[in-house]
Amino acid sequence: MIDLTGKTALVTGATRGIGEACARALDAAGARVLLSGRTASDLERVAAELENAPLMLEADLAPSRAGTALAERVLDETGGVDILVNNAGIPMRRTPDKLTEQDVDLVFSINVRSLLMLTVGLGPSMVERGGGSVINISSIASLRGPLGRVAYAGTKGAVDAMTRALAADWGSQGIRVNAVCPGLIKTAIWEESRRTVPGLSEQLEQQIALKRWGEGSDCADVVVFLASDMARYVTGEVIAVDGGMARVSSAPGSAVKVPGTS
Ligand SMILES: NC(=O)c1ccc[n+]([C@@H]2O[C@H](COP(=O)([O-])OP(=O)(O)OC[C@H]3O[C@@H](n4cnc5c(N)ncnc54)[C@H](OP(=O)(O)O)[C@@H]3O)[C@@H](O)[C@H]2O)c1
Repeated sequence: MIDLTGKTALVTGATRGIGEACARALDAAGARVLLSGRTASDLERVAAELENAPLMLEADLAPSRAGTALAERVLDETGGVDILVNNAGIPMRRTPDKLTEQDVDLVFSINVRSLLMLTVGLGPSMVERGGGSVINISSIASLRGPLGRVAYAGTKGAVDAMTRALAADWGSQGIRVNAVCPGLIKTAIWEESRRTVPGLSEQLEQQIALKRWGEGSDCADVVVFLASDMARYVTGEVIAVDGGMARVSSAPGSAVKVPGTS
């Protein structure tokens, strides 16, 4: 059992989905969780179920300086964090012919700029506390070329690269930096297509070695591990939590007899 008692963790995008699951799992492990997101009612809903004096920080991470401002607020109100889960992100599904400058600016502002400025803003507080763990929520879109999401894939590739670079910059100061790449996780970003595109859910499932969509908790458990001392010698890693999708060949669901095999 992982024990994070006495640690403070900030989770961005904690109002639903993977971020909410991470907040719940970190709280269950004993950490005090600072919840950030734009929707006050959802922050209140999640906070109401956490045990260790959660703090709600309403913040939109799209505007310029938003990451820096959130870091400053965290430092003012709590003094700093031991664990940072950079989870807030938007998908930006656009084929190359439909992509606009505004689309690119928006997805990079949230998924990349604010993530980086929040992280560098909180790094010194981790050093003061004797070290820390940053976990960036990336995507398997950074590991294999996704269809119709070139800008999103670019942001997640940047997240992976920044993960390794910050691990290099901060390793000597006791800060570990890792990334988790979720595969297909049943959250709001998939809700509409799962409901409205016939057969999509089943078709995608066939591309997963473990033959099921992931839950937020599948990612959250890996995040808690990376946040903990169990992962004390792990840094600069990009870990797929995808049931075997990005890097694993997947056989069809029903057994297929291949001639010459038993
Ligand atoms: N679900 C998947 O299959 C999947 C796969 C690969 C990677 N991911 C990554 O996992 C992360 C979480 O995804 P999810 O599926 O849990 O998505 P989700 O259910 O849509 O949740 C996204 C979270 O980000 C917050 N957010 C969105 N825009 C924001 C903004 N401008 N400022 C501040 N917060 C903002 C949302 O909060 P508010 O709306 O309240 O602000 C929400 O809490 C993302 O980085 C995503 O790219 C997900």
